[in-house]
Amino acid sequence: MTVPSEGMLQVTDSRTGRSYDIPITNGVIHATDLRQIKSHEDDYGLLSYDPAFLNTANCRSSITYIDGEKGILRYRGYPIEELAEQCSFLQVAYLLLHGELPNGAEAQAWADEITHHTFVHENVKGFINGFHHDAHPMGMLVSTVGTELSYHPDPVLERAVDALLILHADHEQNCSTTTMRTVGSAHSDPYSSAAAAAAALYGPLHGGANEQVLKMLTEIGSVSNVPAYIDRVKSGELRLMGFGHRVYKNFDPRATIIKEIADQVFKVTGRNRLLDIALELEKIALADEYFVSHRLYPNVDFYSGIIYQAMGFPVEMFPVLFAIGRTPGWLAQWEESILDPEQRIVRPRQIYVGSDLRHLGQ
Ligand code: CMC
Repeated sequence: MTVPSEGMLQVTDSRTGRSYDIPITNGVIHATDLRQIKSHEDDYGLLSYDPAFLNTANCRSSITYIDGEKGILRYRGYPIEELAEQCSFLQVAYLLLHGELPNGAEAQAWADEITHHTFVHENVKGFINGFHHDAHPMGMLVSTVGTELSYHPDPVLERAVDALLILHADHEQNCSTTTMRTVGSAHSDPYSSAAAAAAALYGPLHGGANEQVLKMLTEIGSVSNVPAYIDRVKSGELRLMGFGHRVYKNFDPRATIIKEIADQVFKVTGRNRLLDIALELEKIALADEYFVSHRLYPNVDFYSGIIYQAMGFPVEMFPVLFAIGRTPGWLAQWEESILDPEQRIVRPRQIYVGSDLRHLGQ
């Protein structure tokens, strides 16, 4: 008997006596559908507690299919046995990245491209040579460098930097922290895990947003250009960087504090000319139906960059400053996760949507 993959999961909440129909699509339910199940009106809704994603598919992927019970592994539909016997690693890499095996010309071009990119610049060699003789190559791969300067800053600015680092120190299960926990769940050391977390942080939707805010304000150029820029955001052409948050829907408390810090800093450094553009952007956005209805407010990154710039930090250092601030949070979360007996290696499942079984030469 074939069981259909579409249907309805009917559940009754014994706390309230209410029943719910939860759609089953392609054999899965959406965890967010559980949110409608509430014990009382102000309840956030039912969450599925799933430490280390033991029974959660977090993506749809068409790359690899595994049947653990039957010992089946296929890349893009091709059995691993056939690929291992008949293909080169570069061909398989191409298959994984492009979805199809390369033809003759494609294989040649791919091999040339890969070979070209394996040349290491002399500077990189010098950097690697600077490591201690017994440094682990994985550590070398993911390492970053730090310097210490003898410098006596203005005490107001010193305090402002301190406060900014504190505001950034931890933020629950944000993207980089989840990365830290995920990498750490494989029992990778905290340095390697933090390098991965720093990479996640650098994304423009996350800690890289402060750099993007500065670029955006510079691009807008003057207060008179703000309404036109807002129109472009509302049309879906652009995102207003430094606005919006997955969790904060009314305001970001860190942004409120940062505005106060900005006032103190500008008394020392002089007013950053981009501040007027930022204030106008905020004023218009907060009154605009699009931003109100989408519950979009300035987040921590909206003003931090303007402050850093006024202090003389180069724009590309902004995410680095965020990373310095977030490092203790990452480390605390890493340790908590390692010590939590409920945690296991993070290993979500997927919904396979790729080719069915097929064979080379068909
Ligand atoms: N500008 C314009 N529209 C936006 C923005 C924005 N900044 N953020 C969200 N929206 C809209 C989005 O288009 C969508 O509209 P619709 O429902 O009509 O399609 C709706 O709001 C929901 O957006 P979402 O992308 O589903 O929301 P999310 O919770 O997945 O994303 C976010 C959160 C922070 C990534 C997003 O708001 C964003 O991209 N903001 C700009 C980047 C930024 O400032 N990031 C820093 C975040 S705070 C510090 C940190 O984490 O590092």
